[in-house]
Amino acid sequence: MGFFGRWRRKGGTGAIGATGATGATGGTGGPPALEARGLSVGYGGSAVVSDIDFAVAPGEIFAVIGGSGCGKSTLLRTLEGLLPPLAGEVRVAGAPFAEAGAEPDEEERSRRLRRVGVLFQGGALFGSMTLLENVGLPLREFTDLPEELVEETARLRLAQVGLAAAAGKYPSEISGGMAKRAGLARALALDPAILLLDEPSAGLDPVTSAGLDSLVLRLRDECGTAVVLVSHELPSLLAVADRAVYLSAAEKRPLETGIPREMRDASPHPEIRAFFRRQSAAAAAAAKGDTAT
Ligand SMILES: Nc1ncnc2c1ncn2[C@@H]1O[C@H](COP(=O)(O)OP(=O)(O)O)[C@@H](O)[C@H]1O
Ligand SMILES: [Mg+2]
Repeated sequence: MGFFGRWRRKGGTGAIGATGATGATGGTGGPPALEARGLSVGYGGSAVVSDIDFAVAPGEIFAVIGGSGCGKSTLLRTLEGLLPPLAGEVRVAGAPFAEAGAEPDEEERSRRLRRVGVLFQGGALFGSMTLLENVGLPLREFTDLPEELVEETARLRLAQVGLAAAAGKYPSEISGGMAKRAGLARALALDPAILLLDEPSAGLDPVTSAGLDSLVLRLRDECGTAVVLVSHELPSLLAVADRAVYLSAAEKRPLETGIPREMRDASPHPEIRAFFRRQSAAAAAAAKGDTAT
């Protein structure tokens, strides 16, 4: 699969707005943006996490949380279509996306992958292209839009992430925070049903990181895109996520799905309360400038 074998044509879900804690189908009566059913993920036939079941509504921001090594990135790789499920299935906007034991042909696979937008580490921008060219790339590759419309759409996406003035810059000329924003603009170029973010704030200072949080919230409101977010940054989780699923490394399964604030304050699972206490301590230390991370 090419790097851009994942984006789909224009024409998104059209669903707008947060749906809060219901996790059902959103206000439109349409299918969930993303469903994991009886999903088991891992490598070489050996499961890292099993029995994963959740649905993310259109416009919902859903976090995947848990200690280091519990399988957050592994789950995300399966949701990105990069790692086949060991059991169960993933559906995107009501249509099959990945299922254990099934291998769709190349054309079907690329059609599926285009329904999902991914922000890769560091934005994964092409260094030889301007930001405008980077954002226009999936449009050029996967739509029949005329060149003027490709450019217009790419400019619009850059404006949405606050980079209108940097359209002509190269990746080497911008900061890490700007590269993440440009990566977001490119992930959203084809109006995906779902946007996947793995530790988007990694490597950013707290101010830039908070800016990225509010950007994700605004993009969700503007585009109605559902978001699955891996993050261990507590302020970010509490500010951004409508719901979260906690993966337990010890039990190799999800322990609880709920509203982050309620999980922090009243989870029936000691492991989850301990997780939030650790994150709170880390966040307090970071706020005082005690740690470099
Ligand atoms: N490519 C891989 N091949 C085999 N095992 C892996 C691979 N990537 C990660 N793992 C293992 O899978 C487990 C979960 O890793 P990961 O999903 O990266 O955790 P997290 O993102 O929650 O920190 C870990 O035990 C890790 O060592
Ligand atoms: Mg990870």
